[in-house]
Amino acid sequence: MKRNLVSAAVFFLILAAGSVFAATLTNVEQLGKLIYESTLLSLRNTQSCATCHNSTTGFADITAVSLGDDGVSTGGRNAPTAAYCGLSPMLHRDKAGEYVGGMFWDGRATGKRLHDPLAEQAQGPPLNPVEMNMPDVQTIIDRIENDPEIAPLFTAVYGANPFTDVNVAYDNLARAIASYERSAEVTRFTSRFDTGALNAQELRGRKLFSKNCTPCHSMARRGGDHPLFTNYKYVNAGVPKNQALEDDPNCAYQYPDLGLGGFLGDPAQNGKFKIPTLRNVALTAPYSHNGYFETLKEMVSFMNNKNGLTPEVADNLSTAVGNLGLTDNQVIDIVAFLDSLTDM
Ligand code: HEC
Ligand code: HEC
Repeated sequence: MKRNLVSAAVFFLILAAGSVFAATLTNVEQLGKLIYESTLLSLRNTQSCATCHNSTTGFADITAVSLGDDGVSTGGRNAPTAAYCGLSPMLHRDKAGEYVGGMFWDGRATGKRLHDPLAEQAQGPPLNPVEMNMPDVQTIIDRIENDPEIAPLFTAVYGANPFTDVNVAYDNLARAIASYERSAEVTRFTSRFDTGALNAQELRGRKLFSKNCTPCHSMARRGGDHPLFTNYKYVNAGVPKNQALEDDPNCAYQYPDLGLGGFLGDPAQNGKFKIPTLRNVALTAPYSHNGYFETLKEMVSFMNNKNGLTPEVADNLSTAVGNLGLTDNQVIDIVAFLDSLTDM
């Protein structure tokens, strides 16, 4: 505990000294980190959040779909990064009636219950049978309560007897994880894009990106904030189905994946998926909601001209992608720019 208080003090000293990146965490962030990295959240103690959202791969997974705790089942979607999503608002409709915010590719962690989509998201994986596979909340909290490292810190952060009401404890567990995901260790803003050292090719790519991609992957700075390369809206970009997933009997992929429309039961939203952040995107291959695209170049090239691919869902297709008219060299310049979004 003492160590954490000291760490917190050091963290603020470093901030005061003007350093951009400090990996030292506050108590609640440190608690979240312990839980995020703990295999106690999975039935057979085989996986933690970090298994599928690892710091070495931009807090995302390197397979098209992730293997679950049982070692056989896989989910039906590609794991996005767990970094930079803490700034997404709750799922809501904007003035134009378009959906914005929420968590997961289809927005189903709306944030309405905990007033925080990121915390609400964290309550899903432990209980998901094709992910961490725990039977119920009580079992999860029992394990946390009996862990000699996590339990005392949990008490320090959330007060005496924090495990008595398991549902309250599970909400707090999720809030702690979200604090860690929002911390400077995960949501770093330490890329070359942030520090301003781009070479000539990357600068060309930046210009092309800014013209063609920012209607969705927004570079707006709100009140001096760093850009997040998403406006948190939902779009059907026309990504094709991933046949390899459909052919795999252990995969939860169900064709067609209707995305936001499937969650809302609203055909007008069919085929729409949340616009992902592009921070650390060079580390997070394969790409798109079903991991169809192996490389960043293939993905960007698809955004440019669709490459004749048939969309998984033909309804509600966006006209803002697929006919951008970029040359192959321009696509390569954009990929170079995207490389500059990798955190140090
Ligand atoms: C077995 C692999 C696996 C494990 C374990 C796992 N995740 Fe995920 N995660 C995924 C996949 C796949 C998705 C996308 C699912 C979807 O959108 O339907 C996802 C989505 C997310 C998102 C949403 C990001 C966004 O932009 O919408 C966050 C945040 C996240 N996970 C954090 C966590 C946390 C925290 C844990 C631990 C409590 C965790 N994950 C455990 C695979 C995993
Ligand atoms: C009309 C909105 C829109 C525009 C314009 C757009 N994108 Fe996207 N982008 C999306 C959506 C939506 C997805 C996710 C699609 C899916 O998985 O079904 C996506 C996915 C991506 C991905 C994959 C990210 C990941 O983690 O899997 C990359 C890379 C990407 N876009 C780059 C670009 C670039 C570069 C441009 C400009 C040349 C661009 N996009 C233009 C909406 C857009």
